[in-house]
Formats: sequence, structure tokens, C-alpha cells
Amino acid sequence: MLTSEMIETVDTIINEHDNNQSSIISILQGIQREYRYLPEEALNYVSDRMDISSSKIYGIATFYENFSLEPKGKHIIKICDGTACHIRKSQPILDALRKELSLSEDRITTDDLLITVEMVSCLGACSLAPVVNVDGVVYAKMTPSKTQALVRKIKEGQLSEDN
Ligand code: FES
Repeated sequence: MLTSEMIETVDTIINEHDNNQSSIISILQGIQREYRYLPEEALNYVSDRMDISSSKIYGIATFYENFSLEPKGKHIIKICDGTACHIRKSQPILDALRKELSLSEDRITTDDLLITVEMVSCLGACSLAPVVNVDGVVYAKMTPSKTQALVRKIKEGQLSEDN
């Protein structure tokens, strides 16, 4: 639902870019930073307010991998499944995490919007395989149990204190 708070937030972002249609990508990035995804109602509001067709906006939102149309968790866990990590058993890490968090290939974010689990290709740290990235921090030579311990720290709000 489009709330007055959302209108105010999106207006601020649009105004920061002088209501300039050519800044639409930056505007969408600003909205995603704010909500951690692109809410449908915000995109429709941008379309009306900036006089850009919704098909063009959705085209941009779906073209760029970094944009998400689904709500994401406060913490993003990326399990690398590039070749080196796959050979060194990244799949059991993913399986254990999904089981612990009741997630699946189609359901990647917990109901409380605390954690999103994504499978990604090479994170560029193959010598440390298997690698897990949590909120931009790389964890090397991971195992299912080490990754589950990280999740427990996230749930207890302790992860950032350790980094
Ligand atoms: S394959 Fe995982 S970091 Fe390269």
C-alpha cells in the first residue's frame, strides 16, 4: 500500500535527482537502498510522478541483477557455488542453511525479513573455498556447522559485534 511515508521518502529521492528522467536508475537505487527492494507501489508512484511508463520502469528493474522486486532480509547470506566452492562442498552448506531457516530455492527470505539466502557464482576468493559472504564480509573455508553458527549470531544480534 502506498503510504504517506512512502510518498515522502520517494519524493525526497526524486527531488535529490531534480526529477530528472535520465536519473531513473539512480532513483531506483535510492528506493532500493531505503526499502532493500523495489516495492511495486513505489515504482507505480515513480511512474506517475515522473511521467515514465511503468513498462519502462519495470524493464529497468528486472534488467539489472542488483534490483529486487521481492522484499529482502536485513542480512544477506551469499553461498558461493562457483566451481572451486562447488567442488569443496558448497551445496551441503546451502542445504543446511535452507533447512535451518525453512527456506528453499523459491523462498529465499525468512518470514521475519531477517535473512535472505542467495546462491551466487564465483565471489573471487577461490583459494578460500568454500566461501560464504554475509553482508559483504567473506568467510573462508566454511562448513555447514560454521555457517549455522553464523546464522545463530545473526539471530542473536551478535554478528556485527564480531566484525
Ligand atoms: S568459486 Fe567460490 S569464490 Fe570462486
